[in-house]
Amino acid sequence: MFRGWPTDWKRVPDEDWVNSPVEELALKYDTVEDHGWYRNLDRTIADVAAFVRPGHLVLDYSGGTGILAGRILEEVAERDFGILIADSSPKFLRLAVEKLGRHPRMAFRLIRYLKAEKRLQLLQEVLGEPLLARGLDAVVSTNAIHLYYDLAETLGSWRETLREGGRAFIQSGNVGMPYTPAGAWIIDETVDAIHAAAMEIVREDDTLAAHRAVLDDAARMRKHDAIREKFFLPVRPIDHYLERIEAAGFAVREVTHLPIEAHVDQWYEFLSAYHEGVLGWVGGSRRVEGEEPDEAAVATRLALIARSMERVFEGRSSFQALWTYITADAV
Ligand SMILES: C[S@@+](CC[C@H](N)C(=O)[O-])C[C@H]1O[C@@H](n2cnc3c(N)ncnc32)[C@H](O)[C@@H]1O
Repeated sequence: MFRGWPTDWKRVPDEDWVNSPVEELALKYDTVEDHGWYRNLDRTIADVAAFVRPGHLVLDYSGGTGILAGRILEEVAERDFGILIADSSPKFLRLAVEKLGRHPRMAFRLIRYLKAEKRLQLLQEVLGEPLLARGLDAVVSTNAIHLYYDLAETLGSWRETLREGGRAFIQSGNVGMPYTPAGAWIIDETVDAIHAAAMEIVREDDTLAAHRAVLDDAARMRKHDAIREKFFLPVRPIDHYLERIEAAGFAVREVTHLPIEAHVDQWYEFLSAYHEGVLGWVGGSRRVEGEEPDEAAVATRLALIARSMERVFEGRSSFQALWTYITADAV
């Protein structure tokens, strides 16, 4: 039995989101665990495994549905350390509790959005006094740092909660590099390429003529571009992250880029859940046209996403995506 949690501190808090039902969106996201491109976690798991010691507490910041935590528990089963998942999505976190809540080495905290202040809570407002007093030994963030609006504040809050000798393990497939080898992708940049290919196909194929008018409506297209950028944020260069990591009080130890093979059909399956953000202009969107697309329009949209992917990846069944791994020490 793991005894590293502070006394008078609940692993699973008694809060509204814990008592809500598990939702479809989270279950759908959780299936990425079986996708080849989720091998992007392997390197992080190895890095964390080499670092953690019995009694340590590891924060899985943006731990989502608990895929990383579950794999770390499995792969470093013999060492007795605790993992706390903190995430801003009650739906994802609810599923994480469903999957891992009974495990005595797991704990969970929801990062709430403070409407009046238009910001997410900082860790200091979430973890509770006994845990803040103890401090954390490591912070891990996988597939998420590119989503943080308040990056500097978030990194600062990690640094403040880390103990002396603490380490941060960060990775994302959406970090820009000065040079991307031919044929390799920053994974979210495939979405822009799919959008560009879809515009070409609609212009060429008369059976899709009904979707041409919107292409000439620059104002409407700009609104759909904005939706796409909300779902798939524009990629920022690596220096953007490194500078802020250092400024928050970390010394960067290592930066590594690794190619991860992504199967086109699995990437399609993932993107199809976010089809409004990929090709919202095919069939329209409630946020732009004021109405949801009907079933037939969604079917056309999905078929066009698949066809555009075939064009972008030149009929291949997989492509190389480049993941960036950063480790940094609290100094
Ligand atoms: C793509 S998922 C990755 C989940 C998990 N880390 C993994 O690798 O499977 C991104 C996660 O980041 C969370 N997230 C997004 N913005 C966040 C923020 N500013 N602070 C904390 N979590 C955030 C989302 O709720 C979601 O669970």
